[in-house]
Amino acid sequence: MAIEIGRLRPDEFARLYEIVAEQNDPEDVHDARSTLEGAHARPDDWIVARVGDRLAAIAIVVPMEARIGGISLPALAPEIVATAKEFTGRGLQRSLFSALAEAYPDRPIHLVEGIPYFYRRLGYEYAIPHPTQQVVERPTSPDGWEVRQATPDDLDRILGLQAATQQGADVAFTHPPHLWHWVMESPLYRVVMATDGGEWSMARGYSDGDDHWVMEVAAESDRGARAAISGAVDGDRVRVYHRPGAPWIADLGGEAVPPGYAYYARVGDLPAVLDMVRPEFEEALARSELAGWSGTFLLSQYASSITSEVVGGRFGRFEVGGPVQAPVSQGGSGVPPDLTAHLLLGPLGAKGLAERHPDVLLGKQADLMEVLFPPRTADVHTWVAP
Ligand SMILES: CC(C)(COP(=O)(O)OP(=O)(O)OC[C@H]1O[C@@H](n2cnc3c(N)ncnc32)[C@H](O)[C@@H]1OP(=O)(O)O)[C@@H](O)C(=O)NCCC(=O)NCCS
Repeated sequence: MAIEIGRLRPDEFARLYEIVAEQNDPEDVHDARSTLEGAHARPDDWIVARVGDRLAAIAIVVPMEARIGGISLPALAPEIVATAKEFTGRGLQRSLFSALAEAYPDRPIHLVEGIPYFYRRLGYEYAIPHPTQQVVERPTSPDGWEVRQATPDDLDRILGLQAATQQGADVAFTHPPHLWHWVMESPLYRVVMATDGGEWSMARGYSDGDDHWVMEVAAESDRGARAAISGAVDGDRVRVYHRPGAPWIADLGGEAVPPGYAYYARVGDLPAVLDMVRPEFEEALARSELAGWSGTFLLSQYASSITSEVVGGRFGRFEVGGPVQAPVSQGGSGVPPDLTAHLLLGPLGAKGLAERHPDVLLGKQADLMEVLFPPRTADVHTWVAP
């Protein structure tokens, strides 16, 4: 079976819609159509696998911005992932994801909202828990607030409100502008804007039968949040996703339901990512009791290792080295490669990981690891509702 990986051809749009309808959801065909034929189409963002000349597996790459502390990193989110039924179980997605990582070496961080376990087979980790949901009676809009459906003209305001809200989190994954267009074009979602003439707020609603969710609430006050949530769905009871930068969601009343699932993430080139995050590390070090520290930073991933010479709190380049089986005896720390995204992006930090995983060994470098890799809060944009 010859598998060819490449970009989608214009004569394959109809076949792609067939695969989406068969394997994702017939309702998702509308979203796929936006990506190929809408006003903000990006057909070249699809990466596909063919068997012979037949389109057999698909995924679209959404460029994202990841932020760790004050550092922005190029990231991506594979979305609308599917293999035609007749071709499943033959390694097509494995080939496609390996080609995808190679095609975007400059976007080493990947994020996926996806089905259980599958992406773990492909090197992804459940690094970031889904947000808590506040299950509440749908609030009424405060007096003086108007709520209306968002239009493409609202894009700058949407980007501004989201950026301000995401500032409240240590880690953020941010949609590109074109994704907001696709979301606004989708019959699956309702994006609303609310204003009292001065302040603005927004939210995205999603309903499935009698279940209603509200995500991406961004507001400057609890009144703004209530106004946006009131218009985002029609149901009486709503599930509103918490965000670190939207504290008033917890004050809406009702019941807080902790997350039952998580986002997958993957860090493809750890030394390169650590190099990019270096200024953040140096600031964290300068704020800590280790300010001005000098020495060799050693992070073993057992089958390989990473070192950086630190002089007066300044990190040199992160260099890749060979296997270091016993890093603690050399003054370093060990973190296995399948906990890399947890370490960089997750809520446990180095210390929490060491408490849970026997092969996370911090050794004498523990204080430094805790400064560089603290527990982090996250605010994650995903195309589909989490
Ligand atoms: C899930 C899906 C994309 C898998 O595609 P595929 O081409 O059959 O996947 P592959 O054959 O490349 O499998 C890759 C690995 O994942 C495993 N795997 C395949 N389907 C899986 C599933 N549903 N759950 C968990 N693991 C799965 C395989 O065993 C294989 O592991 P291995 O290579 O380590 O042995 C395909 O079944 C599909 O389109 N399903 C419906 C749509 C869907 O759920 N998409 C994902 C949206 S997030």
